[in-house]
Amino acid sequence: MIKVIYIPSGNHAMALAGESLLERLHAAGAPIESVCRGNGACGTCIVEVEEGAESLSPAAPDECDMVKRRGGNDRCRLSCQAKLLSGTSGAVKLTQPVLRLARAERERAARAFQRVDWDHVESHPIFPEVFQEMGPILAGRYGSPVGEKHFFSTRAHEAIEKARQRAARAVGCAPEQILFLSGWAELALGLRILHGEGPVAGPEALFFPPMEMIVAGREILPWRFGASGVLDTDSFETSLARGASLVFCGSAIAGTGTRLPLARIAEAARRRRIPFGVDLSWSWSLEDIWQELSGAEASFVTLAPSLFGGPRGVIVLVLASGAGWPLPERGVEPALAAGAAAALEIAGAHRAAEGKRLAALRDSVESFWTEKLPGCDPWSRWAADRLPQAACLTFTAWNAEGLSSFLETAGVAVGGTFAGSRTDRVLRALGVDPLYAAGAATIWLGHENTEEEFSLGRDRILAAVKSFRAVVPTARPGLMPGTQAAAPRPATIEGELRAAYMDET
Ligand code: FES
Repeated sequence: MIKVIYIPSGNHAMALAGESLLERLHAAGAPIESVCRGNGACGTCIVEVEEGAESLSPAAPDECDMVKRRGGNDRCRLSCQAKLLSGTSGAVKLTQPVLRLARAERERAARAFQRVDWDHVESHPIFPEVFQEMGPILAGRYGSPVGEKHFFSTRAHEAIEKARQRAARAVGCAPEQILFLSGWAELALGLRILHGEGPVAGPEALFFPPMEMIVAGREILPWRFGASGVLDTDSFETSLARGASLVFCGSAIAGTGTRLPLARIAEAARRRRIPFGVDLSWSWSLEDIWQELSGAEASFVTLAPSLFGGPRGVIVLVLASGAGWPLPERGVEPALAAGAAAALEIAGAHRAAEGKRLAALRDSVESFWTEKLPGCDPWSRWAADRLPQAACLTFTAWNAEGLSSFLETAGVAVGGTFAGSRTDRVLRALGVDPLYAAGAATIWLGHENTEEEFSLGRDRILAAVKSFRAVVPTARPGLMPGTQAAAPRPATIEGELRAAYMDET
């Protein structure tokens, strides 16, 4: 006798030679349909043989045709037609291909709806270890650190002091050099107070400039870069001589691979007794940060712990020793300070491990699009100082801001720094054609991005750009410095692109 086993439920029945699989499956209680009552005419009794096919009668041509029409593979049989052979023993194990197909369909549908987050500048997730540090304070040791001297306030104050000491140890400075601020706006306010000025600009304009900047009274003086991406120091000195009151090196340093000779800038600022600040949140390792810091001799250094896997809404400000800046430290939640300190402590190890993985993903996405999309150029040829998690590309015949909106509907979140806010303006300052610069994008991968998310996002961006080009077929060669000249393109299409997407250049 042979055992007939229905795999999905594990039910089984014993069979004699000559009996059909359908008969024994029904005896075992398996839910196999048989609309034509075993006449081989409907195909609803189809099963897939996982094991024991040699114990079954061979399939006739009619059965093979029906199996094919039902979408079965070469292991499938009509269970009403397959009979147990004599002289065989052991087991025949069966399943329903329809179940497998349903599972594949469910997986395909889930994949289609899966959202991918490539927005790791705007919304970096907190490391679980950091969250653990914050939890007890959020839940049990809350209180205002600047309130009355009551029990809750004292505990909160102690939590901040402890965080200050931890951050100072991680950074390698004295605790009194560390200030926790509740975000960029508070830092902007403090600096305005420091300069005895009214508002010089909104905080966004002051601390997230399209480029590095020099503040001179109410004026923000842009710096210029040479074609190689290195700061033009002549233009910097000229701007500085116009009465600058603050020099701040911000985010363009990392997003585009442009390079700033920090030590020279710091020296020029010090000669003129101008405070020099630098945001080093973008450096990839703490070692790099402190190397740059010691070379630059900055008056202050800012670190956004959200970029280290810490909490958002807090800025760690490291002051030069003895700076005595009159910045108020107000409104920082003790839990945020604890999270920031923890993030600084663990950032080095996490980033060292993640750097290699993310750089490999980045290289892979860049070569994928370069190969599949004519006119898609990575910046690697000149922006050699990119961070490992930043893929920098230009999609010609496409405005990157438009692309980021389109991607939202395709389930890929790329965030505000994908395009527009910085990268294209920096490229324009480098002398790149404005239309080309408008298609520039930087993709920020994060520590929790999986390979699957990576391939999903990669394919969806490819599809998005191809769809757009099918409507507006203006793909053209790159216009990066040192590359081939622009191919002729229809003026009307370019005009449409400019009208639709570009601001005044
Ligand atoms: S029951 Fe209809 S083909 Fe088997």
